[in-house]
Amino acid sequence: MRQAWITGHGGPDKLVLRESPDPQPTRSELRVRVKASGVNFADILARLGLYPDAPKPPMVVGYEISGAVDAIGPDAHRDWIGKEVFGIVRFGGYSDSVIIPEDQVFEKPSSLIHEQCVALLVQYLTAWQLLVVMGSLSSDDTVLIHNAGGGVGLAAIDIARHIGATIYGTASIGKHDFLKSRGVHEAIDYVNRDWTQEVSRLSQGRGVELIIDPLGGHHWKKSLKALRHTGRLGMFGVSTATVSALPGPLRLIPIGLRMPLFNPVGLMNKNRSVFGVNLGHLWHETGKLRSWMRALMQGVTEGWIRPHVDRTFPLESAGEAHAYIEARRNIGKVVLVA
Ligand SMILES: NC(=O)c1ccc[n+]([C@@H]2O[C@H](COP(=O)([O-])OP(=O)(O)OC[C@H]3O[C@@H](n4cnc5c(N)ncnc54)[C@H](OP(=O)(O)O)[C@@H]3O)[C@@H](O)[C@H]2O)c1
Repeated sequence: MRQAWITGHGGPDKLVLRESPDPQPTRSELRVRVKASGVNFADILARLGLYPDAPKPPMVVGYEISGAVDAIGPDAHRDWIGKEVFGIVRFGGYSDSVIIPEDQVFEKPSSLIHEQCVALLVQYLTAWQLLVVMGSLSSDDTVLIHNAGGGVGLAAIDIARHIGATIYGTASIGKHDFLKSRGVHEAIDYVNRDWTQEVSRLSQGRGVELIIDPLGGHHWKKSLKALRHTGRLGMFGVSTATVSALPGPLRLIPIGLRMPLFNPVGLMNKNRSVFGVNLGHLWHETGKLRSWMRALMQGVTEGWIRPHVDRTFPLESAGEAHAYIEARRNIGKVVLVA
């Protein structure tokens, strides 16, 4: 098999293609010949040494694959052989062949291509958890989606639009027209401007009911302040850590120092709540993930879930795919094709 390895912490040039013998499934595992692998921002954090959950280099990252089953373990259902599937793996997805437990795969819908299927996994599941499961978004609410042009952002737009909420989204300015075409009511440039003033102006000083924030550090403080009474803040990433001039994991220090400290009495008196989401810590809850995916698949059938693939790169160009996202050029999913 061919895999894109991260050979050490550093720049995109640390991604190198290597070959090794095909893996063999055991127990109830399946082997999938991969057509498409999803790239996530977490993969970039792992390459930079900023993702504590990632294995140490040399490592193969990648949470999402889509392809066809070509071998099964002795305890797996025989029906899987030859089936087109997509699924979520705990690292190792930047490969043209992966071993995956049976309960982490889903049958590929015929209406989607493999590249779209990988967009449905981490990013849509995360958005579902943020908006529906923990954020309780309703049609009367306004939601602020930070990083709205990323994969989670576009997924959140689909879900919020279906719920009927008013949608504000922050993104680099070149993405605003596209975001409006997807259903964002107000697009906000957060790179060159103070987004809090914009949110205050748009909401006549009231703030918004739900904010989903993967920026981290002082942005979480700002997001907390931008909540309306009864508002909820969902924190789920530290995107801003990548731009620091500090080396390696030291980049996390300013992020940590500038995080808010939550005061229970303050939250109580302002009728606000805060919550965290880390899909990578839900491997023991595959039942929940499967039920969320069923709801998303219903959305695919009904047409309100619209996984958007921005660009594909060959597996051997995984470094270019990382550089493309870090340059803030992607709108939606970036995919590696084997
Ligand atoms: N906790 C979880 O379970 C979970 C799951 C999935 C994702 N996440 C987090 O959610 C965030 C977005 O993930 P994604 O997969 O949607 O991303 P993505 O599709 O890879 O898109 C990333 C986008 O983030 C913006 N960006 C790039 N560098 C940035 C920086 N230094 N600071 C702020 N924004 C930057 C850029 O868009 P703009 O400049 O246009 O905004 C870029 O296009 C990441 O922080 C990721 O780690 C967390």
